[in-house]
Amino acid sequence: MKLQNKIALITGGARGIGAATAEKFASEGASIILADLNEEDVQKTAEELKAKGYQAEGRAVNVTNKDDVEALVQGVQSDYGQIDALVNNAGITSDAQLLKMTEEQWDQVIDVNLKGVFLVSQAAAQAMKAQEHGVILNASSVVGEYGNFGQTNYAATKFGVNGMTKTWAKELGRYNIRVNSVAPGFILTPMTEEMPEKVLNMMKEKSVLNDLGRPEDIANAYCFLASDEARFITGTVLNVDGGVVM
Ligand code: NAI
Repeated sequence: MKLQNKIALITGGARGIGAATAEKFASEGASIILADLNEEDVQKTAEELKAKGYQAEGRAVNVTNKDDVEALVQGVQSDYGQIDALVNNAGITSDAQLLKMTEEQWDQVIDVNLKGVFLVSQAAAQAMKAQEHGVILNASSVVGEYGNFGQTNYAATKFGVNGMTKTWAKELGRYNIRVNSVAPGFILTPMTEEMPEKVLNMMKEKSVLNDLGRPEDIANAYCFLASDEARFITGTVLNVDGGVVM
């Protein structure tokens, strides 16, 4: 098993890519802490994993709240003794074209997708430095490489996530901490299921495989990057997008 006895903290783990990543990591032997804003869903997802015989628990956390984040990381450290892998998966969209985007829409997306990743990583990196190892994985997007119509705020955060990934890889390598991003293409999850059929078909056609991705495709990439098989990989953005960006 690739993640035997590892302790993995996954934000936004209640559903979608985060939940699929939790299941993949658990199936490879990791103990999972799911941290999500949605308390009911996160407990439900953790219960479903436990019913399959996996080690998992859910904690209600808002990644934009420094007190919440510090309590989360301290709690995991005292309950499990270490944090081997952090997946900064929590993310939101609030789309509008530049000329119509409100300041509130801008602030909401920046808060979760950028500040949230910063706060959780800063707290977890302290723990990883002390234990002299760790892996931080960030949810990016193909939109963080080529922009997207109607996604000024979201694109800014995903370009930003790639910048933080490379910066932290440079800063934290000396502590044996690896940092990478995964850039999914268009993946069918509750976030994208709300999009009109026409848009989903357009997304499909952008892939040279003429397909949309599944949460498991992204979970597999996170699992590889979290495992010792990726011991020499840091500071990268791994595209998992069916050939949308190349
Ligand atoms: P989703 O919307 O299905 O799930 C996101 C989870 O994050 C939800 O459970 C939500 O409650 C949680 N969350 C939101 N705000 C939070 C906060 N402040 N604190 C804690 N948890 C919070 O999203 P999906 O589609 O699974 O995406 C996961 C990540 O992958 C996101 O960062 C997204 O930007 C990225 N991504 C997704 C793509 C897709 O096609 N679905 C494509 C590229 C990137």
